[in-house]
Amino acid sequence: MTLNDFARRVLFGASLEDKLFSPSEHPQDIRTFDFTDLPNFPIREKKIQISDHKSKIPRLEQLFIEDNRYITLHHFANHELMAIELFAYAILKFQDADSSVRFSLYRTLLEEQIHLRLYLSEMKKGGMELGDRPLNSIFWKQIPRMQTLEKFYAVMAISFEGANLDFSKIYTMAFEKFGDLEKANIMKRVYEDEIKHVRRGYQYIQKQIPDSQSEWDYYRSLIEFPFTPRRAKGYHYFPETRIKAGFSKEFVMELERYEDEYTGRVNSRILKEVLDIRIYP
Ligand SMILES: [Fe+2]
Ligand SMILES: [Fe+2]
Repeated sequence: MTLNDFARRVLFGASLEDKLFSPSEHPQDIRTFDFTDLPNFPIREKKIQISDHKSKIPRLEQLFIEDNRYITLHHFANHELMAIELFAYAILKFQDADSSVRFSLYRTLLEEQIHLRLYLSEMKKGGMELGDRPLNSIFWKQIPRMQTLEKFYAVMAISFEGANLDFSKIYTMAFEKFGDLEKANIMKRVYEDEIKHVRRGYQYIQKQIPDSQSEWDYYRSLIEFPFTPRRAKGYHYFPETRIKAGFSKEFVMELERYEDEYTGRVNSRILKEVLDIRIYP
């Protein structure tokens, strides 16, 4: 099987089984196709189709209710499904990238599949399946802003997966606080993998920086308004996680400092009340 064949099955296959398909043998990187007809929306069977209905993630103080903890996992499972599809998209889109880079997209994709399986099997214990709640398309919406590999990594790895470092930490603590260690352990596993994913993206971008630009300035040049660096943080920012992922000190500080008009304070207050952690900055 080639990397392209694999990515095509994941992206164009409509079932959850297709999205979770992993090759039994290491694929070869033979680039025989010219992919110009990549979709702008996910291709999925009815049960897991995207929906315009809003589904809010339960607030932290509501997580003492077991159902809310399952709904939270459903929310994260949706992110994993979109990440799986978008890494398949990237493998097909960026035919000219070095094989080493294409295989690093592949490794990330396989780990996103592991995350999705972990969430799904835990959700099953609560009688919940993917698609039982509305599935939004927040990652897919950024497709027009991810048309080069640098932009893809700036949006997916540094921003979305970067924010996920904060969220996986927050929810590890929240699940532990409410005594749900199974779910806390899944968040820990996801956190460890996401550190690698964020690092892969950051390192790629670092290598492309034009002379005399800082990492931060280059990142800013890659993301397009209204997408802002706010999307690269959770509602609580853990700078040490970005250091762990290899970000420069300057980048970590600039990201900490960054605010836009939508930067919320509400959840930070809840974090303090529920988890007793400091409000930033
Ligand atoms: Fe993931
Ligand atoms: Fe990831």
